[in-house]
Amino acid sequence: MAKISMLLVGVWLLGSWTGLLDAEYMKYKDPKQSIDTRVEDLVSRMTLEEKIGQMLQIERKYASADLVKKYFIGSVMSEGGSIPAPQASAETWINMVNEFQKGALSTRLGIPLFYGIDAVHGHNTIYKATIFPHNIGLGATRDPELIKRIGAATALEVRATGIQYVYAPCIAVCRDPRWGRCYESYSEDPKLVQAMTEIIPGLQGDVPEILPKGVPFISGKEKVLACAKHYVGDGGTIKGIDEYDTVIDRDVLMRIHMPAYFNSISKGVATIMVSYSSWNGVKMHANHELITGFLKNTLHFKGFVISDFEGIDRITSPPHSNFTYSVEAGVSAGIDMFMNPKLYIEFIDDLTMLVKNKFIPMSRIDDAVSRILWVKLMMGIFENPFADYSLTRYLGIQEHRQLAREAVRKSMVLLKNGQYADNPLLPLPKKVSKILVAGSHADNLGYQCGGWTIEWQGVSGNNLLRGTTILTAVKNTVDPETKVVYKENPDAEFVKSNGFSYAIVVVGEHPYAEMHGDNMNLTIPEFGPETITNVCGATKCVVIIISGRPVVIEPYVSIIDALVAAWLPGSEGQGVADVLYGDYGFTGKLPRTWFKSVDQLPMNVGDPHYDPLFPFEFGLSTKPTKAFYPA
Ligand code: BGC
Repeated sequence: MAKISMLLVGVWLLGSWTGLLDAEYMKYKDPKQSIDTRVEDLVSRMTLEEKIGQMLQIERKYASADLVKKYFIGSVMSEGGSIPAPQASAETWINMVNEFQKGALSTRLGIPLFYGIDAVHGHNTIYKATIFPHNIGLGATRDPELIKRIGAATALEVRATGIQYVYAPCIAVCRDPRWGRCYESYSEDPKLVQAMTEIIPGLQGDVPEILPKGVPFISGKEKVLACAKHYVGDGGTIKGIDEYDTVIDRDVLMRIHMPAYFNSISKGVATIMVSYSSWNGVKMHANHELITGFLKNTLHFKGFVISDFEGIDRITSPPHSNFTYSVEAGVSAGIDMFMNPKLYIEFIDDLTMLVKNKFIPMSRIDDAVSRILWVKLMMGIFENPFADYSLTRYLGIQEHRQLAREAVRKSMVLLKNGQYADNPLLPLPKKVSKILVAGSHADNLGYQCGGWTIEWQGVSGNNLLRGTTILTAVKNTVDPETKVVYKENPDAEFVKSNGFSYAIVVVGEHPYAEMHGDNMNLTIPEFGPETITNVCGATKCVVIIISGRPVVIEPYVSIIDALVAAWLPGSEGQGVADVLYGDYGFTGKLPRTWFKSVDQLPMNVGDPHYDPLFPFEFGLSTKPTKAFYPA
């Protein structure tokens, strides 16, 4: 009897010892193992439920630590403008992300999650963040090295809030400015968009030479995962209608819309987002040939493919009318992670049923999960799952504001300078008796930043953002004895009777995002045209257009003395004054064609009917005034 119990104790001891060993050594937790080995080990331990959870990204509003734990959720996100509290501090953001992370780490296998957000021109949802010019302005700089530095600054500000993943860059090639997302595109020219993919190594870090091309790469806790979007052809839809159909042959798709993906992949982009749009009638979210066939098999993209927000719902019309079909079509097409903000239980049930009934093979699920885990292991989140509070110091720092200011001045495009070439108006004199600043956009930070700022559709006014308006920038720059009068929409009489030396008129589009910005007439909203006419008819004027794209300007050009396209410059309006007053010269060049009338659209450089008001690449230059550079 004693012998038997000794034996039992021995067996028990052995069992618990191996159990202990198991608990102590799991290959996937060992950073000394290769990422491939770790992924393989981890996937082999996962249940179907755990795998499907990894494939989900849900919105913070519907998430909690418990829910993350219960459904093994792989990622949480903020949709445009979704914040934990009004004017939340960096610490509040970190607390929220860390809380979700606790839920993820308390699951059986303890797979950490990452948090995603649209940081598309700086960390644009966050109060006090630096807001950089939107992509169209960055395209005007023609300066990939600057764009890379902006990527690095954005990554730091994003990490300052505990977030590890940004839905940027948008590498759309906007072929029609009537599209409401045209400002998210660097250019109508694929080559310029390709050059601007330098933002990717800025966001993620430089891929080391020893790594094979196309492997997702992110270096350390000051960098973030990037996302090239929206694959593919988002900027080519008919009449620029958002999410619509891009009707072009394969050759044009490959020549215009695909090239920037080649660059992004070779620069190690970790993720690619699928476009809501269709290509020749086929929804991209259901396009197996382009996602699995071309992107994964031909281009050997090794990161993961993410759907757009409720992207698979929109495979059917009306959206979400046959969700089981949408799940099957999206997963089968090759999408790996699903931005499925709210209806995650439906997704889980449908996908479970589809796998159990062999409509979707387990190998497809394993491919999706392996890609997601590969990225998670590469980014080091298993070793450092929690955000580092010491990074909060980077949010909106002076250095980043200086960088944004540099980007602003390099993005200004001077379209006209004086009624005659030998009598330029710019640079403006700093010391005169009295000047007028006018227009709806002269003293409005929200307008200056455009859509995707604080809120999805942007904001109006100066209270929700930190930065410098153009009015303040002008006041900062002129001689203290120069009187600056500000009137939003003065009548001609007021202008005439005041004896201004010159006027600065700042007008443009009101903020918008996505389909809300689709616009078939592209006129400057009221009272912009009226302000231009009243002011420029009565005194010497420079007109600054704040817009996400070329707008109708031809009818006013003759009365305008100097004309500047400022795009959506962001929080650092001082950069505008830098060039107006000649502290720096104008160097920006048009990243897109400026049309005469909308009837010409679409019209892009190289088109047979090309007859622009200002051609692609146009931009006058000025020399900096010497006074700024003492000998
Ligand atoms: C947009 C994406 C964006 C996503 C998440 C979608 O509506 O198309 O560009 O990343 O929302 O906010």
